[in-house]
Amino acid sequence: MTPNHFVELSTLPSGVLRKVIDAAHAMKAAGRTPTTVAAGKTLAMLFEKPSTRTRFSFDMAMRELGGGTIVAAGSEMQLSRGESLSDTARVMSRYVDAVMIRMLDHDGLKEFAEHATVPVINGLTRDSHPCQIVADLVTVEERLGPLPERTIAWVGDGNNVARTFIEAAGPLGFQVRFATPDAYAVPADIIAAARANGITVTTHTSAADAVAGADVVVTDTWVSMGDADAQERHRLLAPFQVNEALMAKALPSAIFLHCLPAHRNEEVTDAVMDGPQSAVFDEAENRVHAQKAILAYAFGAI
Ligand code: CP
Repeated sequence: MTPNHFVELSTLPSGVLRKVIDAAHAMKAAGRTPTTVAAGKTLAMLFEKPSTRTRFSFDMAMRELGGGTIVAAGSEMQLSRGESLSDTARVMSRYVDAVMIRMLDHDGLKEFAEHATVPVINGLTRDSHPCQIVADLVTVEERLGPLPERTIAWVGDGNNVARTFIEAAGPLGFQVRFATPDAYAVPADIIAAARANGITVTTHTSAADAVAGADVVVTDTWVSMGDADAQERHRLLAPFQVNEALMAKALPSAIFLHCLPAHRNEEVTDAVMDGPQSAVFDEAENRVHAQKAILAYAFGAI
């Protein structure tokens, strides 16, 4: 039987994303008292790239579910000396009950999942960040209510987090707008595929146009892990800074999200990060509740 992987939102069985978000709300409401969902289970966490939120939130999530974790950097493993992903997946599946991986190579993570006999969770690749989007959508719902017909305006780099919003928009019924420079736009084939699936997604070259009347304004760092063109990115992305003037174009009830880490006064000003519309620290906290729900799905408990 195929394990309950959590690798791409777009390939989850129908209804699973909604179920995971509902479970995250319920787990948050129940408080941080430990449960037995993962009693006796161990999650391996394999990081090829740095992490603060993903690492700590998964570790806390496993503790609160009654299980434990093993953390390793890819550079410490035989992977760094050429052992194949498939062999590593087969071996790790003999030791632990689930594996969370952060690696830039999306196809590599999928290859690992194909060969693993335990659930594999995507902790961020160059293409997607599904765990982050679960936490973001939990935050939107707790601040604003139901998602259908909400408008989420992404401003800045059309990166992995931006692209993952599209994967959730179809199942959950919200609309997405992207304001990006052409050089860092969400790839046209992804936009076309979303529209073919009935998702309302618009693209803009003006941040103000994308944000006008939006419920949620989201951005991310201009230079993500693996990006080599920092100077050019800063030049082209400067007009896409989220500041008070831009937030004033969204609905008065709009919230601001950022998956963090933020580069203050680059992609977002201090005034917005620390202002009344910012939900970024609730969003960061919600990573724990989201990870607990994702792990409960992986372990077949929801
Ligand atoms: N947002 C996020 O994934 O944070 P980390 O890189 O700190 O894990």
